Amino acid sequence: MYARITGVGGYLPGSPVSNDDLVRRGVATSDEWIATRTGIRARHLAEGACASSDLALEASRRALEAAGMAASGLDLIIVATTTPDFIFPSTACLLQGKLGNAGAMAFDVQAVCGGFVYALNVAEKFIRSGSHKTALVVGADVFSRILDWRDRATCVLFGDGAGAVVLTASDAPGIIATAARADGSRHGILAVAGQVCGGQVCGDPFVRMDGQAVFKFAVRVMSEIALECCDAAGISPSAIDWLVPHQANIRIIESTAKKLGLSMDKIVVTVDRHGNTSAASIPLALDAAVRDGRIRRGQKVMLEGVGAGVTWGAVLLQY
Ligand code: ACO
Repeated sequence: MYARITGVGGYLPGSPVSNDDLVRRGVATSDEWIATRTGIRARHLAEGACASSDLALEASRRALEAAGMAASGLDLIIVATTTPDFIFPSTACLLQGKLGNAGAMAFDVQAVCGGFVYALNVAEKFIRSGSHKTALVVGADVFSRILDWRDRATCVLFGDGAGAVVLTASDAPGIIATAARADGSRHGILAVAGQVCGGQVCGDPFVRMDGQAVFKFAVRVMSEIALECCDAAGISPSAIDWLVPHQANIRIIESTAKKLGLSMDKIVVTVDRHGNTSAASIPLALDAAVRDGRIRRGQKVMLEGVGAGVTWGAVLLQY
């Protein structure tokens, strides 16, 4: 029994906000600085009351449409998010209500930018066990809400969005191999270390990051976890048709490709136009490459992510 992707969907709010738009909004930066160091040219930002569950709803509808099924057919809903609408109920339950599904198991996964591969890992186990037949796995984040717009070293990096896949139990492959890891000793290199306590925000409620430490760590583990996944499947990285990495920084992506011996024309890149959408970045990139016809049925696709925690993971699948 395999868990097979039968539908993919993505959603980005509003119009693109360019690097020059950020300068016009008062951020002390430049298109040249951002593009040279990160590859980012634009991102989308959710306005007003638009929340993670709203973005998740649009992406989920598109994934369900692509899978040719109704929300009532889902028996598992997992949302990876770091920016839930509320502390509770979970964004997965809010999404379930908006989709009009009743009865599916629904919960959130919190592994920041590693969230989507974590959620896919979990959903695959449910399907392989035979306990569940059809899962909706979503990555959705509105990171713009937890950015300090006076901190130019972080605020230029992120964007908002959502991506979703429908996973169905199938005799045909399917997810072939998975790997997921964490190292909590490195929790301080990227964190939002504030919380609500006694009705007040205690600590720092915005994203803080040691950019160079994150960069070095990401470059190391992105290739390691992909190799671990290839080993588990008994294939060499050269057998991968498409690598869909977490979209944080083009230099991290290029370095990973080099270490795996993959040319950049096998790598799906959206960081230039999406920025880093955290848990949404991998399914958004997957959606882009499926819809424009690059990723085709039968091809081997490696999804991989790394995020605060530190968490990281990979999923190798036959699309
Ligand atoms: N515009 C202009 N100048 C800036 C900006 C900005 N947006 N941000 C920082 N600077 C300045 C700094 O003030 C500093 O100036 P100084 O030398 O006068 O003090 C200078 O640029 C260099 O700053 P560094 O922080 O050393 O810049 P660095 O070359 O390390 O690049 C960056 C920073 C792009 C964040 C890099 O470290 C990086 O990409 N790290 C990876 C982090 C990442 O991708 N995180 C995403 C979340 S985690 C994840 O998804 C895996």
